[in-house]
Amino acid sequence: MVAQVITVAQQKGGAGKTTMAAHLAVAWAQYGVRVALVDIDPQGSLTHWHDIRVKHQKREGLAPLGFVQCSGVRMTREVDKLKREYDLIIIDSPPHTDSEARTAIRHCDLVLVPMQPSPLDLWATQATLKIAKQEKRPVKMVLNRVNPQAKLSQKMQVELKALSLSLFGNRVAYADALLAGKGVTEAAPRSAAAEEIQLLAEELLNHFGYEIREEELATA
Ligand SMILES: Nc1ncnc2c1ncn2[C@@H]1O[C@H](COP(=O)(O)OP(=O)(O)OP(=O)(O)O)[C@@H](O)[C@H]1O
Ligand SMILES: [Mg+2]
Repeated sequence: MVAQVITVAQQKGGAGKTTMAAHLAVAWAQYGVRVALVDIDPQGSLTHWHDIRVKHQKREGLAPLGFVQCSGVRMTREVDKLKREYDLIIIDSPPHTDSEARTAIRHCDLVLVPMQPSPLDLWATQATLKIAKQEKRPVKMVLNRVNPQAKLSQKMQVELKALSLSLFGNRVAYADALLAGKGVTEAAPRSAAAEEIQLLAEELLNHFGYEIREEELATA
């Protein structure tokens, strides 16, 4: 597989960028994909998660992930290096920055944009969508932290389908898994949260033309 780069971007803080990056990386690694993560957010949340993961990795038999923490300036060089060793590279970008996010978007094959289901978030998302459009990069949007009890109106369901939005519930399982340095597909493999992550992971693998082998599906 030719290495593909996914940038998780959203100008609005707290939309779920880091959460998506970590859980997707683990799900893909469980399918046998060679995955690397790049943390260009000075907050370093993904780096904290990965540090915990490395501590427990051997004992718990967790899938190893490539990992680099770097500034936006060094990112291009680091990503080019990772491309020689990995199939999928996920860049977790910081909120509230234009230049770093733009560079990360310019160097990716797909922009993953998580958004919470509120008009405020939808409006804030326009800035990120604009950059993706200017850089001519395809976008996959994800509606995150949807109340699992909420019944979406028929109209809303039609709108979501038209946008081919993936939905993620507001579920504690996501944070619980991160706390243990894991992905939800490792910590709670039979949960609704794991199912949501696997659906998106498989959709994006299909998008990139990566074929999941039967035995990997069975063990994931
Ligand atoms: N689907 C979800 N269900 C429940 N909690 C979630 C979900 N997604 C994210 N969260 C929680 O929301 C908060 C923000 O998530 P996260 O840090 O991933 O967002 P972010 O976009 O990376 O934030 P920042 O812009 O600060 O980098 C965290 O506390 C995380 O645990
Ligand atoms: Mg983050």
